[in-house]
Amino acid sequence: MECVVISGATGGIGSHLALRALESGYGVIGLSRRPPEKDPGYPIHAVDVTDGAAVAAFYRSLRGRRVWALINAAGAASMNLLLTTPSATMSRLVGVNLLGAMHCCAEGAKLLVRRKGGRIINFSSIVTALGTPGESVYAACKAGVEVFSRCLAAELSFFNITVNTVAPPPIDTPMLAGLTREQIDKIVQRQIIKRQAVPEDVWNTVSFLLDEKSAMLTGEVLHIGGI
Ligand SMILES: NC(=O)c1ccc[n+]([C@@H]2O[C@H](COP(=O)([O-])OP(=O)(O)OC[C@H]3O[C@@H](n4cnc5c(N)ncnc54)[C@H](OP(=O)(O)O)[C@@H]3O)[C@@H](O)[C@H]2O)c1
Repeated sequence: MECVVISGATGGIGSHLALRALESGYGVIGLSRRPPEKDPGYPIHAVDVTDGAAVAAFYRSLRGRRVWALINAAGAASMNLLLTTPSATMSRLVGVNLLGAMHCCAEGAKLLVRRKGGRIINFSSIVTALGTPGESVYAACKAGVEVFSRCLAAELSFFNITVNTVAPPPIDTPMLAGLTREQIDKIVQRQIIKRQAVPEDVWNTVSFLLDEKSAMLTGEVLHIGGI
């Protein structure tokens, strides 16, 4: 069975992608720091993506599995004006959003290179393109993910591996817990499509990227809702 590995598989978006991938016939292997107590119907491994050695050990344990795609959805946000953002918060956001994606790509891609094919799907955010106040550190991390993914696409195209970045707009998940309705609506009103997105909108994009039909699309950033 073809498998997809989903980081952040317990999150609002990651868990939805995991369930939809299962329904579509993929095996799902999830990871997060704190796997849920209730069995979601697929394994979720306790891995902190900021820990390069732990990520490497996790991917080594998957050797022999038919991994088709890496969906790197682990992320963290903290809406703060820069002048009130502690250095520890900056380090945490860079660690999870940027370094975490790098670790997962570097280790997971080894499985895809071995089989000479596959998909890497990373996560940015629409706020990176919009330049939203309060999101400078988070948006900078995600801008890093976008450029990183573009370079990686060039490194891996020889192996029939595509690397794309999905940039969702605000979606009601635990990540948005610290934002007011007004703050969310302000961002939604800057989208071309002025409707708040739901996790299924992300799945619709991700499922296309997982499909063989997306083989000629790589190095792109797909903004859900439009910028
Ligand atoms: N929701 C939105 O509005 C929105 C908009 C644009 C982009 N995004 C991006 O979409 C992705 C998914 O977001 P979401 O809304 O689903 O977030 P979420 O509900 O807050 O879930 C975050 C997930 O990441 C995991 N995670 C956090 N730190 C981790 C670490 N160090 N190691 C391993 N896993 C870690 C969490 O599990 P543990 O806590 O157990 O580790 C959880 O599974 C993120 O990359 C986010 O930046 C979200």
